[in-house]
Amino acid sequence: MSASIGSTVSHNMRIAFCCTNTKAAPWIAGLSAALPGADIHEWQPGAPQADHAVVWAPPQQFLDEQPQIKGIFNIGAGVDALLKLRLPPQAVLVRIDDGGMAVQMAEFVCHAITRHVRELDVIEIAARRSEWAFRKPRRREEFPVGVMGLGVLGSLVANAVKQFDYPVMGWSRTPRELPGVQCFAGEDQFDNFLQATRILVCLLPLTSETRDIINARTLSKLMPGAYVINVARGAHVVDEDLIAALDSGHVAGAALDVFRTEPLPAEHPFWHHPKITVTPHTSARTLRDESIAQIAGKIQALERGEPVAGVVDLQRGY
Ligand code: NAP
Ligand code: GLV
Repeated sequence: MSASIGSTVSHNMRIAFCCTNTKAAPWIAGLSAALPGADIHEWQPGAPQADHAVVWAPPQQFLDEQPQIKGIFNIGAGVDALLKLRLPPQAVLVRIDDGGMAVQMAEFVCHAITRHVRELDVIEIAARRSEWAFRKPRRREEFPVGVMGLGVLGSLVANAVKQFDYPVMGWSRTPRELPGVQCFAGEDQFDNFLQATRILVCLLPLTSETRDIINARTLSKLMPGAYVINVARGAHVVDEDLIAALDSGHVAGAALDVFRTEPLPAEHPFWHHPKITVTPHTSARTLRDESIAQIAGKIQALERGEPVAGVVDLQRGY
């Protein structure tokens, strides 16, 4: 990574670092190297007003104490947790725009699809019993993949899945065009998208429109023997509805990386359901060096009055 952006910033620029569950020291060291001259500190209650903030799930008190902040840089792609808080009205909220997450997500989703379609899960279990569990080849045309959300992550995932010759569809809020991907948009085309989908991948942001979107009705529209891969947010899925669809056999399995409560509580039925694979919110991790380089570049651009990518539309919610 080249975190050092080269140019210097105003000597009195202050940047507050306020990230829950994140070690501050390496971030502050990296940001300091990338923004020579900036005063970068871990926020403590009562700290002086900063110009910009680097955050992950900050407390409301932090935002209340920063009424003049210009830029708030979230160290993840999803801003749903931040949008539950009161933000200073003039602040620009910026999310991580790929930063190495899209390729991880593509790798993770392709792995989940391969594991299911090639029945590697069944083979693994049999191998533990020393059984030679040879499986019949399955036709990939029978496993059309539908990606909900064709943004930074979803579009790379759709393109990656396409390389394995699955039929690929995508669904977004506004019409998109991706070569080789059949694109659907808006509520009007949602059911057509679902009916043509056997492997459903969720890469939507969590908003009032997308909360609970994987529910009894939408699951029932999927092709029989469906498979659900949720790598976006836990609250996209109505947990009881997914379990009912799995138990009825309409849905054959699910790979879940995100949950309503994280870590997933020990007593949650997802842990022991034989058709569910649980992973600990790890499909696309924030990469520190890439994120520092991106955030530092954007702080400098904002200071020069230039536009930056990844600004969140507060009305839309992503
Ligand atoms: P993004 O670039 O903002 O893309 C969002 C996509 O969702 C866009 O295509 C958007 O449509 C579509 N969308 C939004 N609301 C919709 C609606 N009501 N109906 C249909 N489509 C809708 O987001 P991203 O960077 O790809 O990230 C997606 C999400 O992944 C994040 O918000 C985060 O929650 C999650 N995530 C999870 C992990 C993990 O480790 N599990 C890591 C990173 C991110 P338009 O194209 O029309 O705007
Ligand atoms: C992780 O879930 C992110 O939103 O970046």
